[in-house]
Amino acid sequence: MLSCALILSLFPTPARVGTRRVHQRSDIEFSGRGVLLRPLQVPVAELQLCECEPAWGSEWRTDATVFVAQSEVPMFVVFTADDAVQSYTLDAVNQFLAHRQNPNGCQPKMTYYTSLNFTNYTLVTDWFVAGNEIADHTMTHVGTPPADEINGNLIALNALAGIPLKSIIGFRAPFLNFSVDTLKMLAAAGFTYDSSAPAAIPGLANDCLALDNACKGQPVLPGFWEFPMYAYFDLRGQEGVHLMDPWLDTANGETAINDTATLNYMKATFMDHYNGNRQPIGLYTHPVHLSTTYPGVNPSMSTINMINEFLDWAQEQQDVWIVSNEQILAWVQNPVPVSQLDTVDALKCSTPQVPASQKICNGIPGNEDGLLDLCDFSDFPFYTCYGCPQTEPTVDEPNPPQQVPDGGQARFRLPANCSTPFWDPVAGNCICTSSTCAFTDNSRAIGPNGANLTGGGTGGTAGASASATNLYVPFNGRGFALPPGVWAATLVGLIGALVGTWGVFGFGFV
Ligand SMILES: *[C@@H]1O[C@H](CO)[C@@H](O)[C@H](O)[C@H]1NC(C)=O
Ligand SMILES: *[C@@H]1O[C@H](CO)[C@@H](O)[C@H](O)[C@H]1NC(C)=O
Ligand SMILES: *[C@@H]1O[C@H](CO)[C@@H](O)[C@H](O)[C@H]1NC(C)=O
Ligand SMILES: *[C@@H]1O[C@H](CO)[C@@H](O)[C@H](O)[C@H]1NC(C)=O
Ligand SMILES: *[C@@H]1O[C@H](CO)[C@@H](O)[C@H](O)[C@H]1NC(C)=O
Ligand SMILES: *[C@@H]1O[C@H](CO)[C@@H](O)[C@H](O)[C@H]1NC(C)=O
Repeated sequence: MLSCALILSLFPTPARVGTRRVHQRSDIEFSGRGVLLRPLQVPVAELQLCECEPAWGSEWRTDATVFVAQSEVPMFVVFTADDAVQSYTLDAVNQFLAHRQNPNGCQPKMTYYTSLNFTNYTLVTDWFVAGNEIADHTMTHVGTPPADEINGNLIALNALAGIPLKSIIGFRAPFLNFSVDTLKMLAAAGFTYDSSAPAAIPGLANDCLALDNACKGQPVLPGFWEFPMYAYFDLRGQEGVHLMDPWLDTANGETAINDTATLNYMKATFMDHYNGNRQPIGLYTHPVHLSTTYPGVNPSMSTINMINEFLDWAQEQQDVWIVSNEQILAWVQNPVPVSQLDTVDALKCSTPQVPASQKICNGIPGNEDGLLDLCDFSDFPFYTCYGCPQTEPTVDEPNPPQQVPDGGQARFRLPANCSTPFWDPVAGNCICTSSTCAFTDNSRAIGPNGANLTGGGTGGTAGASASATNLYVPFNGRGFALPPGVWAATLVGLIGALVGTWGVFGFGFV
């Protein structure tokens, strides 16, 4: 048992990024002025602050019956992004993930902590329908947020991006600035987890959360999870801690960014986890800083290549999966040995069975072409499937009345009993009401269980095309209730949608 020492460290001052923030709010700005590091002793566990029990790796327990040996714990690489969702930020994420595959043949998914200023709502819909996790980062990007900022984000993302309320389970505090009250508010609002607390090995392992009123087992929030953010350490060890966008920091106390040095310490920290108790490692990004499509921004290609090199290298190790927080949590809640990962639904990938020819505003670019509403607000015009609001959403009014065009008809918002890709907001109709028209499982059985497979995929077109072939045998033979002709049409639709997406996103790097 380790002591509950209070560790207060400053983030290293990140590189300044000037013009890149024109249409973005960013945690970087704040961390430049210094944020307290708040190590948490329990890597991922039902929230029990400051009890100093190691919980990751050596054995995993949920209901006291399921144990997973350390050698059977997969190595998870969590990928997250924060702030506004725009074409530029999705371009930036895609240049790291779109060409990759996890060991089951699925493109990696990630978590987007979404704030609303400058967010293009339709792209949130698209990102969600593509299988990524959409989470809450407050409406206007404020630290220690009031409840309205947290709950208003839920309401607006549901109304204008069609994200089902039950799918928004996670929160990250802007500036990583939260309090015990924040956690209580989140639990009260039905969130499943918070991910705002930095922690990591080596150096900060199993220390307690330096947070007022959060020791001696308090607060107790049954069913609520704290999802730590895992830091990297450079050659200076505890003195050289890096958390978000580590590639914007200088390494080892140097005065200039050195991508080689950054890559070296990222690999070293990954290996400490990999060879240790398999605590996950995180890539916590503000993607606008690495966007090559944002007008006037010229990120360092060397840095972009370095991050891809890191991911290439990580995927060459055995049992490495690139995932969203939601996917890890699903595994944590029902842990199985790595040899049984093909049974974990959350790690599978699926395609909604919507015919490519169907005109429906549903988060699939091919289907929704020509059906988006442009909401032409002067500070940031955005698009949505669900009808423009009369005014931009605010904390006081997160779901303003709809601006119905003259002679037009109001659009229908997503109801609780239809899922996003099947809801037609123009007709107000759910096109799928039975299990036979729902989703097709595209994941590939990971060989016979226990096969020695790695993620492989170092990029290039081979990886990209592989995710859209029909060679995969889905698990359990489920998901093929439709006649073969319809299945083929769905598949072609998927390929078309993917190509269309890449066209829009201007895929420069794969
Ligand atoms: C907003 O989304 C629309 C529709 O996908 C797209 O055409 C436009 O480029 C996007 N703009 C930004 C800044 O994200
Ligand atoms: C966190 O946010 C609150 C409220 O916005 C602010 O008063 C406080 O100074 C912030 N904390 C830190 C460490 O910056
Ligand atoms: C960058 O870092 C690498 C690895 O630490 C080192 O060998 C190299 O000299 C550094 N380059 C510069 C310009 O400092
Ligand atoms: C963000 O949105 C809020 C609410 O509409 C507004 O008051 C604020 O000025 C916006 N902030 C920025 C930086 O655009
Ligand atoms: C969903 O709910 C609405 C209203 O509650 C109801 O009219 C509709 O039939 C339901 N649809 C399905 C597919 O259950
Ligand atoms: C799996 O493959 C790796 C790399 O080829 C090898 O080092 C390792 O020994 C193999 N493990 C098993 C159990 O075959």
